[in-house]
Amino acid sequence: IPVDAFDIVLFGATGDLAKRKIIPSLYRRFLAGQMPAEARLIGAARSDLTDDSFRDLVRESLEEFVSAKIRDADMTAQFCDLCSYIAIDAKGDGGWDALKSSVRDEVTKAFYFSVGPNLFGPLSSQLREKGIACENSRLVVEKPFGHDLDSARKLNADLAASFDEDQIYRIDHFLGKETVQNLMAVRFANVLFEPLWNERFIDHVQVTVAETVGVGGRGSYYDDSGAMRDMVQNHLMQLLCLIAMEPPAAFDPDRLRDEKLKVIRALDPVPPADVVRGQYKAGPEGPSYTEDAENPDSLTESFVALKVGISNWRWKHTPFYLRTGKRMTRRVSEIVVQFKETPHSIFDREGTSAPNALVIRLQPDEGIELAVTIKEPGPGGMRLTTVPLDMTFADALGEDHIPDAYERLIMDVMRGDQTLFMRGDEVEAAWAWTDPIIDRWQEAGDKPHPYAQGSSGPEQALMLMHRDGRRWRDLDA
Ligand code: BG6
Repeated sequence: IPVDAFDIVLFGATGDLAKRKIIPSLYRRFLAGQMPAEARLIGAARSDLTDDSFRDLVRESLEEFVSAKIRDADMTAQFCDLCSYIAIDAKGDGGWDALKSSVRDEVTKAFYFSVGPNLFGPLSSQLREKGIACENSRLVVEKPFGHDLDSARKLNADLAASFDEDQIYRIDHFLGKETVQNLMAVRFANVLFEPLWNERFIDHVQVTVAETVGVGGRGSYYDDSGAMRDMVQNHLMQLLCLIAMEPPAAFDPDRLRDEKLKVIRALDPVPPADVVRGQYKAGPEGPSYTEDAENPDSLTESFVALKVGISNWRWKHTPFYLRTGKRMTRRVSEIVVQFKETPHSIFDREGTSAPNALVIRLQPDEGIELAVTIKEPGPGGMRLTTVPLDMTFADALGEDHIPDAYERLIMDVMRGDQTLFMRGDEVEAAWAWTDPIIDRWQEAGDKPHPYAQGSSGPEQALMLMHRDGRRWRDLDA
């Protein structure tokens, strides 16, 4: 369904995220006929570019990040015609008049801040003071949304000085991933799972986001953040919320976000024994973390695993184990909902039955898999075996193109749908839970455990589960 005409002003248009994600995603929506030919992309950044040199950047981005299979020369030319550029001085006057005369009042106006959080305040107040933004303009802000609770509060206050909460779209791109949305469909559009979705039937939940990339190239941002701030406070926290939340009364932005907020507020503080931090060593894939970060004494973690408890009726005795890291053996993001054993096995002497597990694969190979125990075929008696009921989306739905998270999210902004964006109070609650964990490391000078590149992280992370008689799902499975 096409959306109405819009003007999107992309601050940080010459940056990496614009090039890798935002521009290619708009293009794919243009190819799909969803971005109308009356829409405009106005790039804004500090550099002095002409419209034509910005269009060259756009073309380069499409060549590098959109598969040649779907690129189309005519469409690319038409798309470039929709693009223009304004050099802007975020804190001064340069460029603002030109911007004001470029954006149209009669269409949806979205201002996309793909810039460091230090510019959120100045840009939003300029947009308001110069009369460029109006009541129905929308503001899209990228992560990191703050560094801790205090800075997040300040950002929220800065934005609130110029925009209402229902105009602000805080991006967590994990929420735009197809399978993450499917998690809600599976939970709330099927009768099968909800009766079992609690501590009586679920032994534990695992959330893994493992990456093979290192931090080379963005070491200075990363070294100040670490895996806890970069991934857990936002992406893994969002996944945890979607698994753990109560069914919202409707799939609408505030009802959904109210339920997520209740989960975050019910998270237990994490004792030191329940967290493991790691840092990758040098290996065949590349230099060590400290070399990538250009900080030989860095104590920042490139891996973290934790056991998280939720104090509410649904989850009291069901721990959630989270882990994420760079330079691990495989790029895999998945959630495992591990059910309990049957209360009584009548097949004890005839082979083993593994408890059921629901595996939600976010990437790669998006899909959902349910491990069920059945009888092994053949005349050999009642021998049991566990097989996956596998629903790989590409096979089940014949989808060859699973849209990038940004495609969905940018179109949601244009439709005015905040459901998949974080509300200010949610972000603050997430920092309020994360801060004490990080503060404690800093106070104690905690040293991350070294781990080999291409591994599953430090041994100690395996122990985190072994000591509870559990184990992580094998990353190479
Ligand atoms: C970003 C983090 O938010 O998410 C990166 O800053 C991380 O460190 C990235 O690599 C992972 O996103 P995706 O979509 O590649 O899984």
